[in-house]
Amino acid sequence: MERIRTHEQAQALMASLLPPERLRHSVCVADAAEKLARRCGADAEKAWLAGMLHDCMKYAPPELQQKLCARNGTPLSAVDLDSPKVWHAFAAAAYLRLECGVTDAEILNAVRWHTTGRAGMTLLEKVVFVADLISDDRVYPDVAQVRALAAEQLDAAAKYILEYLFAKLEREGKRMEHPASRAWYDELIREAQEGGILHEPTGTAANACEAAG
Ligand SMILES: [Fe+2]
Ligand SMILES: [Fe+2]
Repeated sequence: MERIRTHEQAQALMASLLPPERLRHSVCVADAAEKLARRCGADAEKAWLAGMLHDCMKYAPPELQQKLCARNGTPLSAVDLDSPKVWHAFAAAAYLRLECGVTDAEILNAVRWHTTGRAGMTLLEKVVFVADLISDDRVYPDVAQVRALAAEQLDAAAKYILEYLFAKLEREGKRMEHPASRAWYDELIREAQEGGILHEPTGTAANACEAAG
């Protein structure tokens, strides 16, 4: 596989891996991530690429997802193995690094953590995580509320999304959320109580993440 450098290459790769509706989702997430990045002071080009590529392994067979993670030196843990829905994110980062020549650690980590999040999320990781849930193709019940929050403050949107996902898991009688998600959520609560936002750069619009149409 050739190195993925351009928008066209990224979109062509995704078209080769995904059915049309998931390709549309990828395009919508790329656009949402780019816009969010511009508003929050993150790298808009990296946000677009990570958004476009984040679900590249969504339709790969589970065995392949597991093998890619192992080959990448990031094998699925016992906890990960209990949550098959998160495998595609970890496998996507592995696939992009091993098979597509993607070497940018910020992009790879934004892809890797787009489903669970983690404590210490970077601004780019937060942008892609939130963009995945506010893209134009999303139609779940709380989407308008999440879009409004994302237009105001990225961490508030992330906190709302995590609470929404935790409640959904509970309603569905599923096992507990992934511990990486819980660790991020606890961190967001702690930071809100301390009145500071620790992971967003100073001197940019990151804290306000102002609404811009
Ligand atoms: Fe995903
Ligand atoms: Fe997605």
